[in-house]
Amino acid sequence: MATDSESQIWKPDSWQTRPALQQPHYEEARKLTAALAELAKLPPLVTSYEILQLKSQLAEAQAGKRFILQGGDCAESFEDCQGPIIAAKLKILLQMSLVLVHGSKKPVTRIARIAGQYAKPRSEDTETRNGLTLPAYRGDLINRPAFTAKDRRPDPGLLLRAYERAALTLNFLRSLAKGGFADLHHPESWDLSFARDTPLEHDYHHMTANIGEAVRFMENILGVRAAEIERVDLFVSHEGLHLHYEQAQTRRVPRREGWFNLSTHFPWIGLRTAQPEGAHVEYFRGIRNPIGVKVGHQTSPETLIRLMDILNPNDEPGRLTFIHRFGAGRIASGLPPLIRAVQQTGRPAGWICDPMHGNTFLTSDGIKTRCFEDILAELEQAFDLHAAHGSHLGGVHIELTGENVTECTGGARGLTENDLKVAYRSEVDPRLNYEQALEIAMLLARKLARMS
Ligand code: PEP
Ligand code: CO
Repeated sequence: MATDSESQIWKPDSWQTRPALQQPHYEEARKLTAALAELAKLPPLVTSYEILQLKSQLAEAQAGKRFILQGGDCAESFEDCQGPIIAAKLKILLQMSLVLVHGSKKPVTRIARIAGQYAKPRSEDTETRNGLTLPAYRGDLINRPAFTAKDRRPDPGLLLRAYERAALTLNFLRSLAKGGFADLHHPESWDLSFARDTPLEHDYHHMTANIGEAVRFMENILGVRAAEIERVDLFVSHEGLHLHYEQAQTRRVPRREGWFNLSTHFPWIGLRTAQPEGAHVEYFRGIRNPIGVKVGHQTSPETLIRLMDILNPNDEPGRLTFIHRFGAGRIASGLPPLIRAVQQTGRPAGWICDPMHGNTFLTSDGIKTRCFEDILAELEQAFDLHAAHGSHLGGVHIELTGENVTECTGGARGLTENDLKVAYRSEVDPRLNYEQALEIAMLLARKLARMS
């Protein structure tokens, strides 16, 4: 029987009747209304055609025929909306995806956490330093990181600035993906110096040599330029956190039923806002995009089923993907009950492992970090646990950057807690750097090859 939440008529603003967590408080309501009105008139960033194409690819991943690589910054920053930084992110995603194709022998869909990943949930509303208390930094969509009253005040004008930067980012990404990026498919140009003199050095070189051969085969024998086949296959995603912003992008399109969020292909609901009766679930229920929901040890099997009832009542393949994030020490006990709960319904849902957010800790110096080995351990367990329960993992969700930062410890270069001070740039969560991200892909590819 339909409960209140399902029987209520959905509208782009019906979320406003529900408790909305993690929303900023704007002091000037008129400015907010004006910014949203302007936002609602601006052209979309993506099309319904692309959105539905991704939905069918997610359905294939759910059926074990495809693998999803979702990756990018924890939070994009306005400052990093720069050509070389964006190109470096696309480069690492492309290289990781080629490595994963090689290991899994399946097509890999790339979904970047980019072109809109500007809003962050925070555990505290305020931050206190030296006796001064200010609103917490919630991402460049909302306020600015500097610790001054002016910077931390939520500013509706930033909604427009963020949308414009998302458009600039996507514009450049699309051009890069369309052509001129072909050399990245040639693993001879990849930087594997991090693995020098490590036990896996030979394996990594062997893998890139094989990928190189495959690319050359395709180009020389089949006559397809590697860059050309990439054209359609880059999707974008962000956490659908700021509901006024998401609502302003929610549109109807000619000749299709329903409503689409046209600011991104694959929005997801964060762990902190995934309450079945909350505003975020209400908003997401009515859009036709494929959607993700973060789940973890906080999520009961009953809640999971309730989310399936509300968010995918018609059992549409590819519509709903659970992105699980437990931590390396908790996944073995936490994941199986959720897998079983979904299996008992006999209904479709996809699974992606986020091995980042359950593995964050503070060093003795108070630096937020993650350890490469924990990330790998959670991923490896995720593959094994799904396989052992007759389910399968359709993809991975990684926080990474193409830059040479030092935010996570470990990996072949053996970064230590002391190294974190060298190049720690994230305002929020620590990311794998270029080398660590490539190495994770290579280790996963080895695992996938062993499993197939
Ligand atoms: C994130 O993906 O950056 C995030 C905040 O994750 P979660 O909602 O899983 O904590
Ligand atoms: Co994060």
